[in-house]
Amino acid sequence: MRTGAVILAAGQGTRMRSDLPKVLHPLAGRPMVLYAIDAVRSLTDLPPVLVVGHGAEAVRQTVGESVVYVEQREQKGTGHAVLQTRETLRDRADLVLITYADMPLLRPETLRRLVDRQRENTGPLTLLTLIADDPRGFGRVVRDEDGGIVAIVEEATATPEQLAIRELNAGVYCFDAEWLWSHVDRIPLSMPKQEYYLTDLIGMAAAEGLRVEGVPAEDPTEALGINTRVHLAEAEAILRRRINRHWMEAGVTMIDPETTYIEAEVQIGRDTTIWPNTILRGETVIGERCQIGPNSLVEDSTIGDECRVLASVVEGAVMERGSDVGPFSHLRPGARICTGAHVGNFGEIKNATLGPGAKMGHFSYLGDAEVGAGANIGAGTITCNYDGRQKHRTEIGEKAFIGSGTMLVAPVRIGKEAVIGAGAVVTRDIPDGALAYGVPARVKKQGTRDKKQEAGSREQETGGHKQ
Ligand code: UD1
Ligand code: CA
Repeated sequence: MRTGAVILAAGQGTRMRSDLPKVLHPLAGRPMVLYAIDAVRSLTDLPPVLVVGHGAEAVRQTVGESVVYVEQREQKGTGHAVLQTRETLRDRADLVLITYADMPLLRPETLRRLVDRQRENTGPLTLLTLIADDPRGFGRVVRDEDGGIVAIVEEATATPEQLAIRELNAGVYCFDAEWLWSHVDRIPLSMPKQEYYLTDLIGMAAAEGLRVEGVPAEDPTEALGINTRVHLAEAEAILRRRINRHWMEAGVTMIDPETTYIEAEVQIGRDTTIWPNTILRGETVIGERCQIGPNSLVEDSTIGDECRVLASVVEGAVMERGSDVGPFSHLRPGARICTGAHVGNFGEIKNATLGPGAKMGHFSYLGDAEVGAGANIGAGTITCNYDGRQKHRTEIGEKAFIGSGTMLVAPVRIGKEAVIGAGAVVTRDIPDGALAYGVPARVKKQGTRDKKQEAGSREQETGGHKQ
């Protein structure tokens, strides 16, 4: 039997009070509609049918071409929404699964149980129910003495006895396709909202003496529908716990899962420890045996094995194996910290490579720069990369030693093993092995690496990074 999937996403979501269509609001960094689409994908080899209305164009742009779109121009109710998909799905599927785009916590396993139950059901549909103390606007499931489901009653039209029912309609169904398509256009218009309620099909099936089955959700939070920003925050918290549990089960230590925020796409290697108040976002990949946090934000970055990020912000950057950053540093897009390199306190690196084993311990800025292996960037070194109109590059050779408070006025190149005295303003290229100092910097005639003590002794005391 072939299953088709319909996801309803046409509603306005007025209660979000937002300019963004409700189903595009992100959860753990992903628009919520994508969760609903993912949940049905494993159950069908047909593309899911997404019913769009409000914000249809924005939804299409976000979701792309992996689903079939059906437009519901006027929102005349869930029954009317499903009717719009009839031409698309009729003759293609024997079973039709119906879910909502604003129910991002539903798991594929739960949908699987629903579909499996309907396969065995002699009647035309099976619905997902939940038992909850807080009925919060859900339709009530009415059963007869034999336990058969005979009706779903919406809050607006329920009697006081019906309002007291705690078995609720999740709004997720699996239908026999033929029965659905021959009945969905016969739903009567409901007052007072003047809508066609999909739920009326339950009463119609019962009236025909047909069996309607109910599958209770094991975890009622799965059926949490998002109507307000309060619901959004509740769903975010549940999803956060799920994601964190997943990574802990995969071998990641979390000192405080409650303050660890990991977005859906992030990858983390085993034996890595995440410290409190840490946010991992976007397409971030973290290796094994790392120490990340506390108080750190890592976004769209790749971090190798055995790295350390302490109280820092890492965005669009690469950290190679064994490198470390922080506290209080900022790696910006295009930063590359090579194997074993060190960025200490209050550093900023943008579009620049810090070579293997290079050190930048304190208060420095590297922008549009290439630093060779083993170089030492003294405290307060600045690449002056912007002349007010254009960016220029700085190159620092292997094992160069840049004294504290050096201004490197780009474009400029510092040779391999060159030594720059503290406080220099370097405006011209410095040859390999040379010693340069002053404002503007001049090369000392017989300058050699031996003179390093002379120019750099102060610097060692005031903060050049000691190896
Ligand atoms: C619906 C059910 C209710 C169930 C609840 C669970 C009906 C009549 N009631 O109520 O029994 O407990 O879901 O959340 O079905 N939509 C469209 N087009 C429309 C109307 C709605 O696409 O014309 C979409 C909405 O975007 C939303 C979903 O269908 O994602 C549910 O619609 P909504 O009006 O919120 O139904 P509920 O009142 O929640
Ligand atoms: Ca709703």
